[in-house]
Amino acid sequence: MSALHVAVIGAGSIAAMHMGAYQAHPDAVLVGVYDIRPDRTRDVARARGIRAYASLDELLADPVVEAVSICTWNDSHAEIAARAVRAGKDVLVEKPLSKTVAEAEELEAVVSESGRMVQVGFVRRFSSNARVLKSFVDAGELGELYYARATNIRRIGNPGGWFADSARSGGGPLIDIGVHVLDLCWYMMGCPRAVTVSGVTDSRLGNRANITSLSRYTVADYDPDLSDVEDLATALIRFENGASLLLETSYSLHAAEDRLAVAVFGERGGAELEPELRIVLEKHDTVLNVTPQVDLLAFDFEEGFRSEIGAFVDACRGVGPQLAPVEHGVEMMRMLAAVYESAALGHEISLR
Ligand SMILES: NC(=O)c1ccc[n+]([C@@H]2O[C@H](COP(=O)([O-])OP(=O)(O)OC[C@H]3O[C@@H](n4cnc5c(N)ncnc54)[C@H](O)[C@@H]3O)[C@@H](O)[C@H]2O)c1
Repeated sequence: MSALHVAVIGAGSIAAMHMGAYQAHPDAVLVGVYDIRPDRTRDVARARGIRAYASLDELLADPVVEAVSICTWNDSHAEIAARAVRAGKDVLVEKPLSKTVAEAEELEAVVSESGRMVQVGFVRRFSSNARVLKSFVDAGELGELYYARATNIRRIGNPGGWFADSARSGGGPLIDIGVHVLDLCWYMMGCPRAVTVSGVTDSRLGNRANITSLSRYTVADYDPDLSDVEDLATALIRFENGASLLLETSYSLHAAEDRLAVAVFGERGGAELEPELRIVLEKHDTVLNVTPQVDLLAFDFEEGFRSEIGAFVDACRGVGPQLAPVEHGVEMMRMLAAVYESAALGHEISLR
């Protein structure tokens, strides 16, 4: 079977993870790159020894390209994915799938008519700690999962630039980093349909640009005075199977430390996936906290992206399952949009 020929759209920080993973993959060939910034396209293409496309049309018209990774700002994900699918390419699109539910649903319709595949960049599903836990969940070791807690708190972590510009991002920590932990819990729970969402958002701290004694990640066009996204989002989501999920995520909060925590609770056992994988079981009237003996107990960026892209390459070549299909991206957008809507209205939203 011949190698999968891939191009990357968007040449910023996360594109580097995609490109590195394709170039390290024995069954993939990284063909080229396109970014709206010609200087960035040229520099990245030169550094990696790949083709610099002058336009998206040129890239999509190249018959050598079988699949694309979309690593652009959130406002262009769905549109570029639809164009790529129409051009006959398989797609790995970064999270979130889109900015709005309508865009996500339009894309889903295009995909269903196309025979092509869209994988959503829920990278944390593919990390080895998540895969280990999923095998326990799927084997029924924890019983039915009926509660989950998803926390991704940054106390000073608004990256600024497009992340802080809702027109390009669609929102703040909820759509950017909350989505990762929400998705992990939801995936472990078997992707049940959400029926009610009660959300709260707040933006009273801003991006805390006054704090200069702690370092933070900022994007190239960071402007301390610009941010129109929320600082904090919390939500309670109920699912049709009776399960519930509590979410909290922030860019700015007077918290003593950053906190990443993902936990699921079932009838026979529970588990923490982050900050480190730990499985909780009850055997012979005794509670066991079990630490799996694996190389990585926590998410590792490089391993996660290599694993995600390995799964995408396998799925495109028809030798592996599709673990993050477009429908999951659409359902995630419904939940995220419902949190924002509920927060704006000040009451619970029904998705029935
Ligand atoms: N999976 C993860 O863990 C993870 C981590 C970070 C970012 N992301 C996602 O990756 C995407 C990119 O984030 P980033 O941190 O790399 O941002 P970035 O700003 O570093 O890079 C984005 C690049 O896309 C280019 N771009 C924007 N619109 C474009 C368009 N229409 N056509 C072509 N190029 C375009 C920009 O010029 C820029 O070079 C976002 O959707 C973000 O949510 C995912």
